[in-house]
Amino acid sequence: MIEVEHLTKRYGRHLAVDDVSFTCEPGTVTGFLGPNGAGKSTTMRMICGLATPTSGTATVSGVEYRRLGNPGRQIGVLLDASAQHAGRTGRETLALAAVTMGLDTARVPERLRQVGLEGAAARRRVRAYSLGMRQRLGLAYAMIGDPAVLILDEPANGLDPEGIHWMRGLLRGFADRGGTVLLSSHLLREVEVVADRLVMIGGGRVLMQGDKAQLLGAAGTLVRAADPVALDALLDRMGVTGSRCADGGVLVPAGPQSIGQAAAESGVVLLELRAAGSGGLEEMFLRLTAKSELEEVSR
Ligand SMILES: Nc1ncnc2c1ncn2[C@@H]1O[C@H](COP(=O)(O)OP(=O)(O)OP(=O)(O)O)[C@@H](O)[C@H]1O
Ligand SMILES: [Mg+2]
Repeated sequence: MIEVEHLTKRYGRHLAVDDVSFTCEPGTVTGFLGPNGAGKSTTMRMICGLATPTSGTATVSGVEYRRLGNPGRQIGVLLDASAQHAGRTGRETLALAAVTMGLDTARVPERLRQVGLEGAAARRRVRAYSLGMRQRLGLAYAMIGDPAVLILDEPANGLDPEGIHWMRGLLRGFADRGGTVLLSSHLLREVEVVADRLVMIGGGRVLMQGDKAQLLGAAGTLVRAADPVALDALLDRMGVTGSRCADGGVLVPAGPQSIGQAAAESGVVLLELRAAGSGGLEEMFLRLTAKSELEEVSR
């Protein structure tokens, strides 16, 4: 369980994280989404005791990270894939982590295998690792102490499509066994498949959060008409305000049923009518973040 309450971080005059609150429950993966500079890493660093909050609190299993004894046994953290000592081999990195946590190093080969770094890769120095290999080692490092909670900052960064697929399976399995996962990304599509909940931030603030299925359901309807002007007039009469998507369709905050019905009654020919799903969520997110950037400028 991760509990973040009114977490705020100020760097000089800049509010990097502004009153952020959310909870990550056992058995779930929470996707932590936001564009570059949104405050994802800063929030995660505060949860892990690497940055001191200006105000607010963050606890893991009810305790502040700094107060946890042997934290690696309780929380696995991957904040920076390049944080490992470049001069050590992958195997040495994990062995040292195990020893530090008071664990048997016998588990190391299995863990290396689990992340696809067995054989020659395990004997190479980290300096010679690709970014994807570093991420894999970072995941093994985070999981070596069998923690109940994982906090991963952009772990998919540098992974190839097969690697991303593999990582999703790993995290899903971890959560299904009762683990808690907080996973950040700047791409909705990257976390959408594996996340149960989504927390979206922009400009340091939470813009939207909730159950993934609910958010997808609330993302509205995508409508495209043969005559866009007639569609605009129809939506106007219905009293709903649609917004034009990049692909020319209109995202409407109403259900497909009511729009389809009204279009049929008015003789407006529709070429497309479907629940917006992740496309709608992405549009919504882009709009929300664009708005928060505008506010940022005017502040
Ligand atoms: N040590 C620091 N000193 C000053 N400002 C900082 C510091 N760390 C972060 N910031 C600022 O805080 C804001 C949030 O940064 P953060 O790294 O948390 O964003 P992010 O969401 O992780 O972005 P990205 O997707 O690029 O990783 C940015 O404006 C950044 O410049
Ligand atoms: Mg970051």
